[in-house]
Amino acid sequence: MNFRINSFEEYQSTYKKSVEDPEGFWDGIASEYQWKKKWDKTLNWDFEKPDVRWFEGGKLNITENCLDRHLAENGDKTALIWEPNNPDDATVTFTFTELHEAVCQMANVLQKNGVVKGDRLCFYMPMIPELAIGVLACARIGAIHSVVFAGFSANALADRINDASCKMVLTSDEIKRGAKVMDAKKVVDEALSKCPSVETVLVAKSTGNDVPMQAGRDLWMHEEMSEAEAEFEAVAMDSEDMLFVLYTSGSTGKPKGVVHTCGGYMVYAGYSFNNVFQPADDDVYWCTADIGWITGHSYIVYGPLLNGTTTVMFEGVPTWPDSGRFWEICDKHKVSQFYTAPTAIRALMACGDEWIQKHQLSSLKVLGTVGEPINEEAWHWYHDVVGRGKCPIVDTWWQTETGGIMLSGLAGHSPMKPSFAGYPLPGIQPVLLDEKGNLVEENNQEGLLAIKYPWPSILRTTYGDHERCRLTYFSHFKGYYFTGDGAKRDDNGMIRVIGRVDDVINVSGHRIGTAEVENAIDEHPDVVESAVVGYPHDIKGQGIYAYVICRSMPENQDQMRQEILDVVTKEIGKIAKPEMIQFVTGLPKTRSGKIMRRILRKIAEGDGDKLGDVSTLLDPSVVEDIHRGVLVV
Ligand code: WTA
Repeated sequence: MNFRINSFEEYQSTYKKSVEDPEGFWDGIASEYQWKKKWDKTLNWDFEKPDVRWFEGGKLNITENCLDRHLAENGDKTALIWEPNNPDDATVTFTFTELHEAVCQMANVLQKNGVVKGDRLCFYMPMIPELAIGVLACARIGAIHSVVFAGFSANALADRINDASCKMVLTSDEIKRGAKVMDAKKVVDEALSKCPSVETVLVAKSTGNDVPMQAGRDLWMHEEMSEAEAEFEAVAMDSEDMLFVLYTSGSTGKPKGVVHTCGGYMVYAGYSFNNVFQPADDDVYWCTADIGWITGHSYIVYGPLLNGTTTVMFEGVPTWPDSGRFWEICDKHKVSQFYTAPTAIRALMACGDEWIQKHQLSSLKVLGTVGEPINEEAWHWYHDVVGRGKCPIVDTWWQTETGGIMLSGLAGHSPMKPSFAGYPLPGIQPVLLDEKGNLVEENNQEGLLAIKYPWPSILRTTYGDHERCRLTYFSHFKGYYFTGDGAKRDDNGMIRVIGRVDDVINVSGHRIGTAEVENAIDEHPDVVESAVVGYPHDIKGQGIYAYVICRSMPENQDQMRQEILDVVTKEIGKIAKPEMIQFVTGLPKTRSGKIMRRILRKIAEGDGDKLGDVSTLLDPSVVEDIHRGVLVV
């Protein structure tokens, strides 16, 4: 598409234009896509309500832009390469023509089973082609997808299904993950005992093992697909119709459903992918994320396909059958752009360089990172060892709520600085604020990262609760979208994102709310109260540290720890299990009863002797007790 920026000078002049005339700038970008009807108004916005609408009056279907528009010239080009969990199993590829056919078939299956525009469909699936095909089919018919990462528990899945009143669930029999096999259908069955809105379950075959099927509700996907026609007219969507809901954790309460809409999300996903990764026509691009997270939505499925780029989808894990799996896949499919998370980089770095040296990695051109701050050591290893010193690194900062990459170099053009995401993409206007909301204009100062002007893929609402969206993102600082991150700008205006300033913990690049984990722990009948904080973890970035008050000090602490881990696994899933559980008799609270997490964080970080003034606490002596009993991290 004709919005590629080809040098740093061009970046600078484009950025300037995007700030001087944002609407003109986005009009130009949006015009590169195929619309069924052009929009009447580029932007309407009010951050206080919030009410943001892009390309109103426009009609489109994102899947026509991902698939149909490539058919005439690139129908035989590979759209999707699926690499299975087991390297001995066959890779499956789809050309654009084949993917188009599969998506149309699946859309017919959905239609036959009563799905209509506006319905919500939940996906709880491993990384198999049916997931990408299903998501695209959902968008083609105008339904709203809600993909739930298949590591979440039945309870967490049920909450998400109910929050959006999903009509259908798409799942698989089981899930292959390295040497393990995990349940999928059984988890869905358990969840559905609490989900009255679900009428149909479509089940894909992954392992082929027997799973219970409920007559009248459950259908085998392959049987339905075998009878379906391979043509389906894409439904015309308004720009501001919902495209998907994706649940993410925040400081308080249950995860919220971040809502993205058809037009703006499409415009931004395609534009950002193209400029950050700079793919050439015959490049193969691979993002190792799971489609259950925003990175998988925007940069496995939509971003690459919108640009007609070949995208790799990997079912397995980085360390099975051995720690060279990622690099083997890079060589096997001649991957040019490789996009992963710092936690994976650090874990593979710890496995030793020999795993890399066994492989050529000569096809690599660009390396990307996302999900959490990357430390300098990992950055250098990625650059020097994986990239052999010749591949630019794009450190991409963004969020579920932003829909696409906000701060990042443009590969090969922008200056790089380890641990700095760098500059905003044209069209993005970040600022740093102090606690009172004043602009931090001097360089080399830390501040709170906020955005002062809308971009096309900004979240529109949180599903079913607009007030929560306003309170979470638009109420801290009048007139700004607040990210929840702290950041710093250097003398050249490059930005380094330091991490969350709220009660969100980033464990292996996954967002976990402290309140969510506390609520789960408190479900244990012997637990009176708990407080959860993050602490620095060598591989995961952050680990979860839980302070727990029980009815009486447990006699068998190991057993009680295991019971707490089990309850967290049941309520949320394994990804939210605390690494550290300390039993305490009290928690540091202010006189108004608020837990002082700052103090607990310091103790967990090993800085319990540098707490400063604790005199405002209701009972300062609890701090001493906790500190004395601290677990060595
Ligand atoms: C963090 C993932 C530093 C940040 C796309 C943000 C990062 C949260 C980076 C969003 C980065 C993401 N450098 N921190 N390059 N990328 N983060 O919603 O704290 O899963 O607020 O979206 O991850 O996580 P989410």
